This record gives sequence, structure tokens and C-alpha cells, in this order.
Amino acid sequence: MLSEATRSAIRGEVERYPHKKSALLPSLKLAQREAGWLSKDTLAEVAELVGVPHSSAVELATFYSMLFTEPVPKTRVEVCVQLPCALVGAEQTAEQIARAVGAELHGPPHRRHGVTPDGTIEVGTTVECYGACHRAPMCRVGDDYVEHLTDDAAVARLVADLRQR
Ligand code: FES
Repeated sequence: MLSEATRSAIRGEVERYPHKKSALLPSLKLAQREAGWLSKDTLAEVAELVGVPHSSAVELATFYSMLFTEPVPKTRVEVCVQLPCALVGAEQTAEQIARAVGAELHGPPHRRHGVTPDGTIEVGTTVECYGACHRAPMCRVGDDYVEHLTDDAAVARLVADLRQR
């Protein structure tokens, strides 16, 4: 069951929109922020709080790649490798981050990912531009952007932060 703080925040989202269904996506994000992923029980709880059918929550959660219906590592690093980021070495940056945390990237180009042996950190490349091209190369860690990963020192600071999460 979600905390009262998250349940209250979801009720707040429902009040913000003229149609209940519009509050579903932000509510699922709030639930995922607390729970780490969206189990069947969590989806049902959010749907009930928002006042929409359970099937609507399932449809939305399985449509968006940033919502997880299976457990995922606690910390996820998503390195943008779209053209502007790729031109300044984002693929190499992803490799550098993965190597530093002990993960090995595998998979097709632009969709590589790897998980640390203890399963706590996942590093991956993504085909989605995060709109921070002018601060490339960059990545997302959860909801946070880490930008200007232009040199070894910047990557080292990121890796130190990842180890403390
Ligand atoms: Fe990487 Fe836009 S291309 S943030």
C-alpha cells in the first residue's frame, strides 16, 4: 500500500484536472517514485484513487517505457545517444559510466544496457531525446538530469553520486 503522503499527492492531482483520467499518468509516476515499480496491486490502488477503471491504469503503464510493470534496479542511468549527444561522444560516455560501476553493456546499437553484479544499478542508452541537447552529453538518473558529461571528472562525480544512492 502506498504511503499517505503519496495517496494525498495523487488526490491532489485528481483535483487539478477537469477529467479524472488526465490525472492518471502523473499519479502513476508518483506511485512509481515511491514503490520503484508498478505492481498489479499498486496499479489497482492508483486506479481506485484516481477513480478510473483498473484497465486504464494497466494500459497506460504498459504503453509508456518510463513506467515499469516489473521490478527494476533501484538506480537507472539512461544515457541519451540521439544525434546531438552522439556527436559529442555519448556512446563512449555510456561505456565509461558502465565500466566505472562494474556493468557490461550489451544489446543492439542505441539500445544497449547492463546491470551491476549486485543488481542495484542499470546503465543504458536510450533512443529518446531528453531536450537537453545543448548540454550534451547527458543522462537521466531517475527524474534527475546530469548534463555536461564532457570529461573524466564529470563522469567520476556522477559515478560517486550513483554509489551513494
Ligand atoms: Fe540528447 Fe537531445 S539529443 S538530449
